[in-house]
Formats: sequence, C-alpha cells, structure tokens
Amino acid sequence: MKLGQGAPAARILAFGGYQPAQIVTNHDLAARLDTNDEWIQSRVGIKERRVAGPQESEIDLAVQAGGKALAASGLSSDDIDLVIVATCTIETPIPNAAGRVAHRLGITAPGAFDLNAACAGFCYALAAASDAVRSGSATNVLVVGTEKLSQWVDSEDRSTVVIFADGAGAAVVGPSDRPGIGPVAWGSAGDKAEAIMVKDRRSFLHQEGQTVFRWATTALHPVAKLACERAGVDPADLAAFVPHQANLRIVEAIARKLGADNAVVARDIVLAGNTSAASIPLALSRMIERGEVQSGGLALLLGFGAGLTYASQVIEIP
Ligand code: UT7
Repeated sequence: MKLGQGAPAARILAFGGYQPAQIVTNHDLAARLDTNDEWIQSRVGIKERRVAGPQESEIDLAVQAGGKALAASGLSSDDIDLVIVATCTIETPIPNAAGRVAHRLGITAPGAFDLNAACAGFCYALAAASDAVRSGSATNVLVVGTEKLSQWVDSEDRSTVVIFADGAGAAVVGPSDRPGIGPVAWGSAGDKAEAIMVKDRRSFLHQEGQTVFRWATTALHPVAKLACERAGVDPADLAAFVPHQANLRIVEAIARKLGADNAVVARDIVLAGNTSAASIPLALSRMIERGEVQSGGLALLLGFGAGLTYASQVIEIP
C-alpha cells in the first residue's frame, strides 16, 4: 500500500433537519402582494414556508441541522474530520461557513469547505464526502445544506418571494463495509446560466421560471435513471424518491417519468417551500421522523438548480 487506503465504502449514518420558527402562509403573502393561495398552490404546490428573522443566519440554521444529524449518528464532534457546507446564499462568504459551523459544533480542526452548486449542492457535497471517506482523506464527514434565501429575494417580487424559503438539512457520512452511497450522476448546463441569477451584489435573485421548468421536466429524469443504473438499482426497487423541492409539479412530473412506482415521493415543498441546497436532506430527515421511510430502504436523490447544475445518487436510508 503505497499511497494509503480509505474505507471499502461509505454510508450515511444519520440525517438532521431544521427550519426557522416563523411560518409565512400564502394568505400572509396575499395580504401584501398581488398573489393568492390558489395561484401558489396550483402552480408551485406550496401552502406555507419558513423564514428566518434578522437574528438567525444561514450559519445558525446549519448549526442546528448539523447538531441534530451529529446527535442522531451516535458520533461525537471529535469523530468528525471533514465538514462540507453546501450553500449559495451565504451573507458573508469570507470566511467560509464550514469552519464557523464546525467551530460552533465543537468539531476541532476538521477540513472545512463550502460548496456552491446551488440547489444541487447537497448531492454534490454528499458525493465529495463519500469520495473522501473511500479515498482515506476523511473518516467521518458532516455534510450540511443550508440556505437563507429570504435575504436574496426581493420581498416585493411575487414571482420569487412565494417560492423561496429558509432552512437547513444535514447528514453524517462514515465508513462502511458495503456501499451505502451510490456513484453520482452529475453535470451542468452553463449555457443556461442566466436562467437563475443574482446579477451583482446589489441585486436580488432573478429566475426565468418557464425556462427552468421546461428544462427540469425534460432533461432530468434521464439523469435520475443514470444514477440508478450506476448504482445497479431498478427504479421499481426504490423505497423513496427525494428530488429537490423546487415545484410540486416538477417533482410529480419527474416521478412519473422515472417509473419508481413503489417509492414514497418527497412532497416537503408543501410546508417548507423551496430551500435550495437544504431541501433534500430536510425533506428526507422529516420523512424519516414521520416513519414514512424505513432504515435500509433505497432512496434516489436528485438535486438541480442554478448553474444550471444537477446531481443524483442512490443512497441507503440510515
Ligand atoms: O430551485 C431552483 C430551480 N427552480 C425551478 O425549478 C423553478 C422552475 N419554474 C417554476 O417552478 C415555475 O415556472 C414558476 C413557479 C417559477 C412559475 O410558474 P409558471 O406557471 O411558469 O408561471 P409564469 O412565470 O409563466 O407566470 C404566469 C403568470 C404571469 O402572468 P401573465 O403574464 O400570464 O399575466 C405571472 O406574472 O402568473 C403571474 N405570476 C403570479 N400570479 C400570482 C407570477 N407569480 C405570481 C404569483 N401570484 N406569485
């Protein structure tokens, strides 16, 4: 063994999710904007979302979700040697979020980096974590997706403020004898970069909704199928399908095309809104809490969003 050796495989030990306390319903938004509950529910599927107050940052959200995942994993902060934070909404990018989250959780001297693949960020980070464990670069990794989208959205813009929300989700990844995280199928479409964009430091998030909608409902089910193929899993054997919670119509369109007929489909957007990199681990942590999915079942994750970026992998539910 010349260059070291990692674990034979990696798996997820636990998930954790966190949402800020303040609930904003469609009726709250309709009271101050030219929108209504019927439009939002029928076009996006959201009934309510959570928004963090001025005193609660995306770092605070990440610490909450990360702490829950760590507690559920049975590991202690001393066991974690790498922290990856997937986010695209950090308010102050210098220094990075990962080091601050690690410090707040009492994780001493881990590798710590942020990763921006927007709403695909959690799946990218999970792939990086799995590779780190398998290569021997890390033993146990805390992966967090955290977003405070409310600070990047114009509160007067009905086309975005009804959709985007705040939250965090986390997973602890550790060594395993058999694969618990399948190979990732990932990619990007930089030609569509302008479809979701914050133009400059003084601007809010702008989204060409229909462009992204068309792309998401036509280009992504083959990526999800490829992730299944790379994992050697038939979509019919999936216990859960957990795509990024962008729009309930997108979730259902992709689920239909996938043929995952026995899978519980995540519909967390209804009560959580679109929380970008947080949406997949947040949804899955809540499905586990509610007993909708069982430990040992296979879940297909599919992240997609600004970039445009996308990533998908099959995981074993912890
Ligand atoms: O998370 C990152 C990835 N993002 C996505 O995957 C988002 C993909 N896109 C979508 O989910 C949908 O395109 C949206 C939910 C963003 C928009 O839904 P849509 O059905 O594509 O609506 P639209 O943008 O075509 O707008 C239709 C109409 C417009 O009015 P006119 O021009 O027909 O008179 C909008 O001005 O709806 C109007 N509208 C609204 N009306 C009431 C836009 N926002 C609202 C609103 N309430 N909040």
